[in-house]
This record gives sequence, structure tokens and C-alpha cells, in this order.
Amino acid sequence: MEKKTIVIGVCGGIAAYKSAQLASNLYKKGYDVHVIMTKNATEFITPLTFETLTHNRVSVGTFDRNYQYDVNHISLAKRADLFVLAPASANCIAKVAHGIADDMLTTTFLAANCPKLIAPAMNTGMLNNPITQSNLEKCKEYGMVVIESDSGYLACGDVGKGRLAEIEDIEDAIDYLLVKNKPLVGVNVVVTAGPTQEDIDPVRFITNHSSGKMGYSLAKAARNLGANVTLITGPVSLRRPVFIDIVAVRTAEDMFQAVDNLKNQYDILVKSAAVSDYKASFVNPHKIKKQGQHQTLDLMMNKDILATMGQIKRDDQVICGFAMETENLEENATKKLLGKNADLIVANQLNEEFAGFKGDTNVVTLIHPNGSMKLDKMSKEDLGYEIMEQLLKILVRKRGAVC
Ligand code: CTP
Repeated sequence: MEKKTIVIGVCGGIAAYKSAQLASNLYKKGYDVHVIMTKNATEFITPLTFETLTHNRVSVGTFDRNYQYDVNHISLAKRADLFVLAPASANCIAKVAHGIADDMLTTTFLAANCPKLIAPAMNTGMLNNPITQSNLEKCKEYGMVVIESDSGYLACGDVGKGRLAEIEDIEDAIDYLLVKNKPLVGVNVVVTAGPTQEDIDPVRFITNHSSGKMGYSLAKAARNLGANVTLITGPVSLRRPVFIDIVAVRTAEDMFQAVDNLKNQYDILVKSAAVSDYKASFVNPHKIKKQGQHQTLDLMMNKDILATMGQIKRDDQVICGFAMETENLEENATKKLLGKNADLIVANQLNEEFAGFKGDTNVVTLIHPNGSMKLDKMSKEDLGYEIMEQLLKILVRKRGAVC
């Protein structure tokens, strides 16, 4: 496959040094990375740093370097699959919002016809200034995507909004923008992910080994394919994806409420969370003290979220469940498909190599009402796309039948 070209525009600001990490990460992911710096940016970090990290010549804001800038900026603009301004200063944002092209960066930016991402970084006062806000709105109107600044301690000593978004989040936004085909535009997807925690007393709870990786991959795949995504997540240690509504929950009851609140809005529900089947019948208000050789914990069943949503599902909604089994995979998963009125069950065998909770790969069998399909081992990321594409097919079939 041909390498994708990403152009990073580095504006003058203290956060310019963070773009070195971005350039390095993107290069390591296999992109052809080109950096264009404004003259001011070179006061904060040298072109040599980026040249070393990207293995490409860096263009600088003024036309004073001795090479063919006139050809260079247009060819780079044509070649770019994505243009990211990081950090984007108030000055650069103002220029690109109004089509001002007075240096190499802004000239190339204006000429480029690819998706554009803006990652502002500046002092809080500058960011909050209605002029900057209106310029950012203008950029959005022109189809550019803005990744919001973070809040925190700023180099100028202020505490507030204006820090460059985390590099991991900028890369996540880049993943979203690089997927050109967006067949899920206008589709509302709800994904549940991770484990639940059921309290026993103020210091203990029941949980399971779910890492949330599969659910997060599904949510990102749905987002990258254009869907409006809500991710209802149990406690996990994964970074929250950008451009996705996040609802953080802890117990199965919280998760039930969160899904129930959205039951009329979603077109597709993916229940990849590992919901605790049981909770303590009584949550002790004080720490249970050590007593005797044996302790018995009385448990009561939690509501089955998937089964409840399956019962009240509209004809034009698609519901997908997961089944993690240690034996009789197809038989058990088919029972869940029928018992919970799901449209698809993604079943995996916990004891199979490369499958399961913690790893980055999975081996699954898709169980439909009309049969099953075993997929090859693949990364959870690829599997996210595969499952979302299957769910889209089911949605299209159902919508066709409903119309
Ligand atoms: N599920 C749910 N609510 C529950 C339990 C499970 O929504 N209280 C969902 C899970 O998110 C998953 C599917 O049901 O999509 C199957 O979960 P699993 O734990 O494999 O099945 P159970 O129905 O709990 O059956 P068992 O534990 O006996 O295998």
C-alpha cells in the first residue's frame, strides 16, 4: 500500500516542541511526514529536529531557503492526505480562517484540498478572545476539524484552557480524518465497553478481567466510519477517544440506566461490555471484618441489559451482543442470540490462542440468525471495522424492509 502523506504545520508557540513527538510517532506508524514551520516556530525548535525525525526536508515560513519553494509548496499541497496545524497559534488560525497566505505554511495550507486538523495552543486570554473563537468557528464552517485545547498549567504561568491537546488525542483525531469512506454518517451508535464493578462494602467490589479494548476499538471504528458515537464505559485504563460522547459508569445498574436513556436514539447498540451477572444482595455500609474460616456472600442477579433492549427493540434498530465462552461456543452463543433477541452475537472462546480479554488480537465467530462465520485472527482494531461493517449491512437490510 502506498504511504499516506501527512503535513504538520508548526506555528510559533512554546508547544512547538511537542510536535516533535507527533512527527516521530507518525513517522514510526509508517506515514510520509512533512513539516512546515513558521519563522517564529524556529525560535522554539529547530528544523533539524524535525528533519532528523521525519527524514524529510523541513520548509520554513519565509521563502529565504535555497530550494524550489514555488514548486515544493504546491506539490506538497497536492500530495497531502492530511494537514495538521499543531500547535496552531492564534495568528495562524486567524490567517487560515481568512485565506491569508503570506508564508510557506499558510500558502501550502490554502492550496491543500485534503482534510485539515487544527490543534490550537495559546494563552487562555487569546483563546477565549471572541475573535479567536469566531476564527475557529469559521475554520469549522470551512470543513476543518478542530481538536480542543486542554486545560491546565500554561507556560505563561496562567492556569486555564490553551494547552495543546495531548499528542495521543491528536493522533486519534488523525485516524478519524484519514478514513475517507464514511458510510455511517447520520447513524447513531451506542457501544458499551469494559467491566462493571459491584460493591460489596466501601473497600471491595466484584469485577472481571475485561480491558475494554474491544469496545473502544468498536467505538473508534464506528466514529471513523462517520457515526455519532456514545461510548458507555466501565472503569478501564484506556485513553478516552476523541469526538465520541463518553458516559462513564461503574455498576451494571448505572450501565443499564445509561443504555436505557438512549434506547430511543440509537440505530445500532453494541454490547461488548462484560457486565457482572450478579451483585451483592446487600452492600455493607462498613468494611466487612475478617471473621471465621469461611465467609458467604449472598448475590442477586443484575438486570440483563442486552436482553431488556432486545425485548423492546424497534424493527429498524440493530443490536449486537458478545459471548465469551470456554466451551460449546456456537451452541451457547446461538442461545444468547435467540434468548436476547439480538441481530448478531460476536462469540469468542476464552481459551483459544490470541483471543480474549487483555490482548490486542481476537479470534471470533459471528453468529447470525441464519448461520455463523468464523473470522481469522485479527487485531481488535481491524475487528472493530469488520463488526461495524456487518452491522451496517444488517441495518441497511432492516431499513430496506421497514421502508
Ligand atoms: N449482558 C448484559 N447484561 C447482563 C449480562 C450480560 O447486557 N447483565 C450482555 C453482555 O454485554 C454481552 C451478552 O449479554 O453482550 C452476553 O454476556 P455473557 O456474560 O457472555 O452472557 P450471559 O447472558 O451473562 O450468560 P453466561 O454468563 O451464563 O454465559
